[in-house]
Order: sequence, then C-alpha cells, then structure tokens
Amino acid sequence: MKLYPGLLVYSSIALGHSAATAFAPSFPSSARQYGSTTSIISASKMDQSFPTWSFDKPCQTMAWNNVVDTSLTVGVADKSLAQDADLIIIGVYAPPKDDEEEEDDEKEEDEATVALSGMAKELDDSLGGALSDLMKDNAKEFNHGAAAGSTTPTARIITADGKTKRYVMLGLGPTPKEDEDEEKKEEAKKGAGLGLGKAIATKCDAEKKVATCSVVMPQIDAPVLQDLSTGFYQTLYSDNRYRTGKKQKNMAEDLTTVSVLSEDADAASISDSVVQVGKSIAQGVFLAKDIVNAPHNVLNSESLADTAKRIAKESGGRIKCKILGKKECEERGMGSYLGVARGSETDPQFIHLTYSPPSGKVNKRVGVIGKGLLFDTGGYNIKTAMMEMMKFDCGGSAAVLGAARAIAEIAPEGVEAHFIVAACENMINEKAMVPSDILTASNGKTIEVLNTDAEGRLTLADALVYADKECDCESIIELSTLTGACMVALGKEVAGVWTDNDDLATELADISKVTTDKSWRMPMEKSYNKQLESKIADIKNIGDRWGGAITAALFLQNFVSKKKPFAHIDIAGPVWDDGSGATGHGAKLVTQWVRQQGEKEKEE
Ligand code: BES
Ligand code: MN
Ligand code: ZN
Repeated sequence: MKLYPGLLVYSSIALGHSAATAFAPSFPSSARQYGSTTSIISASKMDQSFPTWSFDKPCQTMAWNNVVDTSLTVGVADKSLAQDADLIIIGVYAPPKDDEEEEDDEKEEDEATVALSGMAKELDDSLGGALSDLMKDNAKEFNHGAAAGSTTPTARIITADGKTKRYVMLGLGPTPKEDEDEEKKEEAKKGAGLGLGKAIATKCDAEKKVATCSVVMPQIDAPVLQDLSTGFYQTLYSDNRYRTGKKQKNMAEDLTTVSVLSEDADAASISDSVVQVGKSIAQGVFLAKDIVNAPHNVLNSESLADTAKRIAKESGGRIKCKILGKKECEERGMGSYLGVARGSETDPQFIHLTYSPPSGKVNKRVGVIGKGLLFDTGGYNIKTAMMEMMKFDCGGSAAVLGAARAIAEIAPEGVEAHFIVAACENMINEKAMVPSDILTASNGKTIEVLNTDAEGRLTLADALVYADKECDCESIIELSTLTGACMVALGKEVAGVWTDNDDLATELADISKVTTDKSWRMPMEKSYNKQLESKIADIKNIGDRWGGAITAALFLQNFVSKKKPFAHIDIAGPVWDDGSGATGHGAKLVTQWVRQQGEKEKEE
C-alpha cells in the first residue's frame, strides 16, 4: 500500500484493510486513504475525500462541489462571431400584450409571431427565414409564453457557407415599452436574468457536444448579466460525492465558453466582475446544496464546524471563524441550545463567522442566523413520519454559510456581518432531554420543553441572544426549517417571513423577487402568546394545535431585544425538492440582504 504524506491511512490504522474496503468498495486500492484536507479523488469538481470517520470517531469533514470553470463572457454582438459557436441562442422579446385584445387561442396560433429586429433579423435573413419559421412552428409554446427563459426546440440550420449549425430562440420576456416609467421597467426585470441563465445552461446540457455557445441579445445591463451568471452556474450543480461507480453525468460537460453578445454598445462597458459576482453567488448556492444534501453520518456538528473553518480559510482573511465548544457555551449559559445538543454523539459547535469589509468602514452591523440541526430524530418525542427527510434540518445554516462563502468573494463594503449557527443534532441517548425538562437560555429565560421535537427554536434562542447581545448586531435575520405547519400554510416553494418591522418586511419581499427565493409575510399574532404560557416555567416550547408556525415565531421573539429589527424566515417547505433534492433556498436571499445593508449610510 502506498502512503501519502500527511494523510491518515484509514484502512491500516483504524480498521484494518477489509473494513475500509467495505466502506469504499470501488475506490482503486491506491486511493483508499482518507485525508481531511487533501483531495485524493481525482474528480474535477470535487475536493476533499469521503468518508473520514471510524467506528470511534464521527466524520470530520465534508466534500464540496465547485461551480464549473466554463467561461462566461460578455461583448458587443458581431454576426460572424455569433455564428461561430456550436450552439447559437437568439434572444427575442415577446410581442407586447394588447390588454384589450380578446383571448382567442386559434387566432393567436395563426397570427402572432415575434417580429425579428436587429441582429436577429439579419441572421434570419441570411438563413432564408429559418429563424422565423422556427418560431412559427412553436408559436403557441414560445411566442405567447412571453416568459423570460422560454426556449424553442433546437433547429439545425444550414448556413450560407454550407455548415450545419444549431439555433435556439430564447424568450426575453415582454418588449420593454418606451413610455413605461423606470420603476416599472426595473420591476419587470426582477428575476429575469436567473431564468435566462438557467435556460442557457439547460439547453447546453440537453444538446450533445456543445463546447461553445453564443447568446445574442438586443441589450443587457449589469444586474441582468449578474443574475444570468448566477442562473447559469447554479443550474450546473450535480452531486456525485457519494457515488463510486457510475457518476451522474456532469451537466453540460463539454461546454467551455458561453459568449453573451449584446447589440447594445454599452455591453462593452460591463466588466467581467459582474459575471464573477454572479458566479460567487452560485458558489454560495452550491455550498448550501452540499450542506443540505450531505447525510448526517457525513455532516454532523463537527464536520459543519470544519466547513465553516474552511470558508474562513478560503476567504483570504475577510472572514474570521470562531467556534464555541461546549465549555464556552456553558460559560455563556446557553442551556437551551445545550439541552438539545446533549443527546448527540458529537459535541455542540457554536459557529460564528465574522465578515469585515475590505476598507474596514462599517455602516451597519448585521446578524444572520441559521438553524443547524444536522439531524432531527425528534428526540424522545420521536418522529413517526418523514424522519428520513430530516438531514435537511440544517437548511437554515446552509443558506447562511453559503451566503458567507459568497460574501467573502464579493467583498461588499460598508457591512460587518455575523454568520451564526448553533450546530447540533436532535438525537436520543441517556443524556438527551426528555419532555417536561426545564432549560435556561442565555438571557435567563426558563423554557419548559413539552415536546423534544420542537428543538430548532431551543437552539435558535441562544443563537439570537448571542447575535443580539454579544455581537451587538443592529438587525438580525434568521432562517430555519422550523415547522411543518409553515409547509402546510405556504407549500413547497414559499418561505414564511415573520417580523414586526415593516421596513425589513418590505426589504425582504423585494429581495425575494429579485433572487426568486420566494417568501411571503405572515402575521405575528400577539394574542397567540397565550399558547406559550407555561404552568411552571417562563415559557413553553410548543403552542397548541393551530397556528404552529406563528407560535414558533412568537417564541423566538423572546430572545431578541424588543425594538431591534428582526425577521424569522421559515424555509421548511422550499429547502427541499422531491425531484432534485436540496434547493439552496435562502442562500441568494441572505447574500443579497447582507450586500444591501452595506449600502445604507449610518443613521446617527
Ligand atoms: N425540523 C422540524 C420541522 C419540519 C417538520 C420541517 C417536517 C419540515 C418537515 C422541527 O424541528 C419540528 O419537528 N417541528 C415540529 C414542531 C412541533 C413539535 C411543535 C413540527 O413542525 O411538527
Ligand atoms: Mn423537530
Ligand atoms: Zn427540526
């Protein structure tokens, strides 16, 4: 057996050869060593190895997926350059909708077609009207969809010089109206870029052997390009970390270059850094997905802490990482959090990342808190349904740490951000809390635990006190997969937002639209506080049957200073997609929220 310096030789030290083989049956024998920091698996998009656990030691590290290296460039449209690519995507605006026009399906199918203009028309003319035909053939699905990101099927068209090229028409949404005011125009653009990026990535993936792709658009501006970049890169996520045999095909694996070509001369002045910012956000979404997709025997409180350390390490000094162990948590009186953590094999890891802006000038100090339950069995109130889903109970921490990774790369000015996760598992052992236990949180409040499955709020209580009092954050947002009740109310795509602060509510609603991390404001119904009254302690951790998502939000309010802007965001529904797994919901929202805080001038 070959030894790699610095790597733990798992098979011989911990388990003997055959046990290690059983863990990783199809690894080549020379690669059957598992290290904590060095990659030994030669997968291009992946680093770090798996697993790093032994019978006596839980897993210590989690592998990350990185966004592809495919280059995305922006430039001024040039006909021959555009036609050089393997796949040519032509962006067109849908015809403006006439509000008065009667809905008549048949008529629409026959008549309405997008009138091509500019370079699209030039190309169409040189191709003998083939692009117009392509749209006519797909009129119903394409033209009238009008939605940004709708595409026609791919057409193979012979160009003037006899080469066969693949063309696709891409919907850019409704034609911007000349007379429309700026605000309306901005509103129409929200989220559009993400859809375009996704459409481009999806097409490049669906087509075989596409190494180069050009996207011709009448115009593009920096915000749309940034979103297009995020939408493009984030779509190319695939998770092969836990497959040893046949890997799932990497998305668009032949693709090396996408050139976005705009007919608007201003495109030349949009710098590549816009694409880079978009890509950094996608990188954050990737990490959020990696965290949620990793099962508990890979990602426990300790390997999540290791993940946070790695974010700091790769931030080039922009982010500092502090991990409070059980002793430091005890010193702070975090009895609520520790009550949950007590039942688990792995120690509590209170994760605190601090981002400071490059110039050091801070307008605003904010806190973002994520629920980080690496698994939720329910505890002694053990779950009788959907327990296998509960690896996603770290979805809030995923959004927060994903955002930290993105923020480190984007390096916004003006904001100091505290990313906080009270990481642990809700498990059962002889030390685990039992129903009726009374816990004392770090603000001194006592909590009667009447259901051990309402554990998220117990961990968040101490995290909120820490952000509020120890970090002195001026405003705080918190994301968690907190209640099944929120899922019942809002379904699988929309997060619930609870806040008493109207400005914060408006701000989050707006960011939701831009990022397409959907959310909806819910009522902070104070009269339900009655439900949280305990017969023996200050408060109990559950309400009665109805309004469970609201009582959870009310519970959390007990741990933040009254006047401080604070929002609780329940992402139990959107954290997971039954088809594709982790969604990364919230990572973009947190990133954008933090970026925006820096732009606010300090109110003296
Ligand atoms: N992590 C769950 C919330 C959850 C449940 C999210 C199902 C998604 C799907 C949380 O810790 C929990 O168990 N909440 C309980 C609270 C109840 C005991 C008051 C719930 O929602 O059932
Ligand atoms: Mn629970
Ligand atoms: Zn939970």
